[in-house]
Amino acid sequence: MANRAQLTKPIVAGVSSTRGCGQLHLLTGQRVERDLLDTTSLSPVRQRVCALAARLSPAARWLMGPVRCVTRWQTGQMTELSGRRRIIVTGGSRGIGAAICQAFAQLGDAVAVHCGAGRDAATALVASLPGSGHVVAQADLRDPDAVRVMVDEAAAVLGGIDVLVNNAGVFVAHEIDKVTYEEWQQAWADTLGVNLVGAANVTWCAVRHMPRDGSARIVNVGSRGAFRGEPRCPAYGASKAALAAFGQSLARALGSSGVSVTTVAPGFVETDMAAASLKGEAGIIRRAESPFNRVASPAEIADAVVYLASRQAQWASGSILDLNGASYLRM
Ligand SMILES: NC(=O)c1ccc[n+]([C@@H]2O[C@H](COP(=O)([O-])OP(=O)(O)OC[C@H]3O[C@@H](n4cnc5c(N)ncnc54)[C@H](OP(=O)(O)O)[C@@H]3O)[C@@H](O)[C@H]2O)c1
Repeated sequence: MANRAQLTKPIVAGVSSTRGCGQLHLLTGQRVERDLLDTTSLSPVRQRVCALAARLSPAARWLMGPVRCVTRWQTGQMTELSGRRRIIVTGGSRGIGAAICQAFAQLGDAVAVHCGAGRDAATALVASLPGSGHVVAQADLRDPDAVRVMVDEAAAVLGGIDVLVNNAGVFVAHEIDKVTYEEWQQAWADTLGVNLVGAANVTWCAVRHMPRDGSARIVNVGSRGAFRGEPRCPAYGASKAALAAFGQSLARALGSSGVSVTTVAPGFVETDMAAASLKGEAGIIRRAESPFNRVASPAEIADAVVYLASRQAQWASGSILDLNGASYLRM
């Protein structure tokens, strides 16, 4: 996988080769800053393709246009993908989701930035993302029909879906001895509706647009709360535990189709969702839960999601990756 720091846009074609993972990217429309043309340790066939790509005339590069031609080798098998990876990120309008959208776009992927109520934020994010082909995709995840339309439309614009990130979530307080029975029911319906059933429905729809060649990925954004408990938001803890179990079930169900499914479980992250919890004295205590005496940045979660969505991470399928700065350790 090309390193983000090595790529800047725009300008000419370049060739990047990450030898360790046996992957070669022919990138048009992006300039490779560092010299990545050292192909001496590649096989003769790969070296020949590198040489050929390096000799592409400007005209040929122009014909290839903004679409990146990505050629990948994996354990001796070559897959040619015409164009970039096609990514859909739920809750991409802000917070962790926005950081995930930025991270994929930075790599040259085309991203459908899903939003609920925040269409303006999603539109602004799409306009600010590097690269092209990004699109806003709006739906209230509690509405199954809207979800289906949203995913099908996003897939039509992107030309399919290679990676789904189930990131959207809500975190509403409903302490059992403080809320009414009606409030309690509403909190459970909303929380499970977005965090669990919404994710399940997006997944059902997205899977139908995924390639079955081993490259498709689903990454769920769960939570440390699945394992540590959420006394003020029990539906949230339950939804995230169920999301992790959902991911494991789908990893088993879809592995034979080459789809890898994983879950990340962050502790506190600096976003709108955690803003109230991280204020003042309570924030100091929460940061001190980690020996690093801080909480995560959205970009740190995005980096892990990008890895789990990569071709190299297929064997991580079924795993749940804790991202909590050692604030909560489990076996
Ligand atoms: N922040 C943390 O400390 C933390 C810790 C562990 C796990 N997480 C998980 O990480 C994920 C992202 O959290 P965040 O902190 O980035 O949250 P955030 O800043 O509050 O953003 C939540 C996102 O979910 C979307 N969303 C909420 N309700 C929706 C609905 N009914 N339909 C469609 N989209 C909806 C929002 O879209 P609109 O704004 O467009 O409505 C927004 O993009 C969540 O799953 C969360 O549970 C967060």
